[in-house]
Amino acid sequence: MEVLEATAGTPWMAWGVVGLAGLVAVGVYYVIFAVPAEQQGKRAVELGGGSLGREQVADNYKEYATFFEKPKEIEKADNVPKLVDTFYNLVTDIYEWGWGQSFHFSPDVQGKSNREATRLHEVKVAELLKLKPGMKVLDAGCGVGGPMRAIAAHSGSKVVGITINDYQVARARSHNKKAGLDQQCEVVCGDFLHMPFPDNSFDAAYSIEATCHAPILSEVYQEIYRVLKPGQLYVTSHIQIEEVAKEVGFEVLENYDLALPPASPWWKRLKMGRVAWYRNHVVIAFLTFLGIAPQGVVDVHEMLFKTAAFLTKGGETGIFTPMHLLVLRKPSE
Ligand SMILES: C[S@@+](CC[C@H](N)C(=O)[O-])C[C@H]1O[C@@H](n2cnc3c(N)ncnc32)[C@H](O)[C@@H]1O
Repeated sequence: MEVLEATAGTPWMAWGVVGLAGLVAVGVYYVIFAVPAEQQGKRAVELGGGSLGREQVADNYKEYATFFEKPKEIEKADNVPKLVDTFYNLVTDIYEWGWGQSFHFSPDVQGKSNREATRLHEVKVAELLKLKPGMKVLDAGCGVGGPMRAIAAHSGSKVVGITINDYQVARARSHNKKAGLDQQCEVVCGDFLHMPFPDNSFDAAYSIEATCHAPILSEVYQEIYRVLKPGQLYVTSHIQIEEVAKEVGFEVLENYDLALPPASPWWKRLKMGRVAWYRNHVVIAFLTFLGIAPQGVVDVHEMLFKTAAFLTKGGETGIFTPMHLLVLRKPSE
């Protein structure tokens, strides 16, 4: 006590304050400029609106948000690809920043990080497809290519991804090059309901958390069936319907939910991310204030946080799973 009293008001205290301020400054620099929230993703200072110009982000977000107040328009399937494209312009940078290069859930694996669990999930898809070097594989709804690179690297196969969003195409190509996988991984911008690929041209196909964006599920299954060679496999995970796959002509080899016990709750990652969300929200608000992040990015981040809360409720109440997995085969003849 006497020591504290004796040192109070001395230069040591001033040095302590300076030191603390320095530490805070280094911490802020580290969070904002140096490191993505999730390793290998985007940095906060790079957040934007995908292919949209800076000045278009806020308006596109408003347009996107109000779309859901017009259910009649949602009912028109033709409007969906444009809506999905806008959505991915708005969220792709934030996903990469906060989640990484793979935009999907995966079963929690004890002792493994989120990144490792994500890779294991992708390797599982490669193994279910029995991929071998030289096989040509379709990734329908490939995002920025996290799964594509993991699957190509693990199996030695050649992966062709398709995404509706041209910003994701650019991101995926750049990541492929950096990973030294650009000879093995190709990315095309297009609609997976009308793919620019010939009939019977792929040795395998998969889609991870992507077919949910098809207004009519049978249409995306049909299109994948068309481009797959007879006798070959298609693995699809997220919201899937076995009966629809059968109607299209697929044989159903496996049908299970990777999120069911003994798997631990898939929404754990969303819940654990809450502190990070608040931190990230402050960072984005600050960057918007400085004019570094475009207006509207804060609203997009807010929307994603609400989505995470609803997804968590869906998981806790058992009414939703993001990991329903089907292994399908196109019959030989
Ligand atoms: C949740 S992300 C998943 C991406 C990737 N499979 C992954 O796990 O990282 C959904 C993806 O589906 C794509 N997508 C949605 N509708 C599409 C369509 N009609 N045609 C092509 N891609 C589409 C989106 O552009 C996005 O890349």
